[in-house]
Amino acid sequence: MLVEVSLEVNGEQVKKEVPASRTLLEFLREDLGLTGTKEGCGKGECGSCTVLVDGKPVNSCLILAYQVDGCKVTTIEGLEMNGELHTLQEAFIEEGAVQCGFCIPGMIMSAKAVLDTNPKPTRDEIRRGISGNLCRCTGYVKIINAVEAASKSGCGKSSCCQE
Ligand code: FES
Ligand code: FES
Repeated sequence: MLVEVSLEVNGEQVKKEVPASRTLLEFLREDLGLTGTKEGCGKGECGSCTVLVDGKPVNSCLILAYQVDGCKVTTIEGLEMNGELHTLQEAFIEEGAVQCGFCIPGMIMSAKAVLDTNPKPTRDEIRRGISGNLCRCTGYVKIINAVEAASKSGCGKSSCCQE
């Protein structure tokens, strides 16, 4: 069965007919070509598929595309503004927080959700905010350093983001 889905993705209005069983992750990657969002486990355990739906982090492998009808979805591709990387992306590079990179899009989206609601989080609050995102490479310390560095450089204020 096909269903019509109409939503905003990274600031652009999108309308498509998709199978009712299409996950948001499949919709983003296969229908819209937004392959920055990664599929790890496919069952809600790794967080690599994290995107923001109306500002809240969700595992896009666990939600169906039609369930976000009418919502605003932000993916890693939506963070760049005027050709410039987002403060969080810059901080991850500066702090050496990226190794293979597979977990990073989801990690950054969870970190963005933390800073959007709490611009000056403690390290424990950062840890809690990214606790649903697994990284097999870095040991997390540099990731937490990067989120902390982004918060110190003003990320989380509206001037830093396009939304
Ligand atoms: S791919 Fe969605 S949580 Fe792992
Ligand atoms: S950088 Fe490789 S899984 Fe996190």
